[in-house]
Amino acid sequence: MKTRDRLRIAVQKSGRLADASQQLLAQCGFRFRQSRDKLFCFGETHAVDLLLVRDDDIPGLIAEGTCDLGFVGRNVLAEQRLAQVAEAGSSALCEVRALGFGGCRLAIAVPQEEPWVGPEQLQGRKIATSYPALLANYLRENRVQADIVVLSGSVEIAPKLGKAEVICDLVSSGATLAANQLKETAVILKSEAVLAAADLDFVDERAPVLDLLLRRLDGVMAVRE
Ligand code: PRP
Ligand code: ZN
Ligand code: MG
Repeated sequence: MKTRDRLRIAVQKSGRLADASQQLLAQCGFRFRQSRDKLFCFGETHAVDLLLVRDDDIPGLIAEGTCDLGFVGRNVLAEQRLAQVAEAGSSALCEVRALGFGGCRLAIAVPQEEPWVGPEQLQGRKIATSYPALLANYLRENRVQADIVVLSGSVEIAPKLGKAEVICDLVSSGATLAANQLKETAVILKSEAVLAAADLDFVDERAPVLDLLLRRLDGVMAVRE
């Protein structure tokens, strides 16, 4: 097992969870000095450093041991966990805490004029998504066979482009679906920002820092409720 004397946390560089993640760490009393290239933040108050990365890279960085923890959407964590299980038979990735911000849901959306009767109407359809593993799981559970079209972004325009008739994407305010004449139907996963990890049985200097971080996080979240 690798050893390290400082805890390393992966945080989204920019996007929905970026600011709130760093604010939460600040509320926990952790202060950082950002490197010139803005990709690394050195912990000045505690032995904790941040790596600022794309959210989709966070589960992989944790799984390979480059980072010990990550602030990431449950949607991204669950998708990559399922993909690892499919590929390797298991995954060490796990959700350590739900963080109470960045709430959204992964949902099926159909054209506004199409009535929704249930998952059976997805049979034989083309569904565009960036979450193929979570979608495949939902389809399997509902005994539906459909054609999954994987897109890394801009999923909501797939119907207009004729790439798919239905989509499975994140919905927060619903504005993106409305702007594309789509409506939310079945919710596949309720998501929010979570603290993700793989192995937390540290035998080095990371153990006491992790304990402190978790205690402070729990304290901050208890006050927020
Ligand atoms: C998600 C999703 C939609 C949008 C929905 O994208 O893919 O595009 O948010 O939000 P709304 O319901 O409030 O309109 P996100 O901004 O997370 O980024 P990405 O698609 O670039 O990953
Ligand atoms: Zn992303
Ligand atoms: Mg989007």
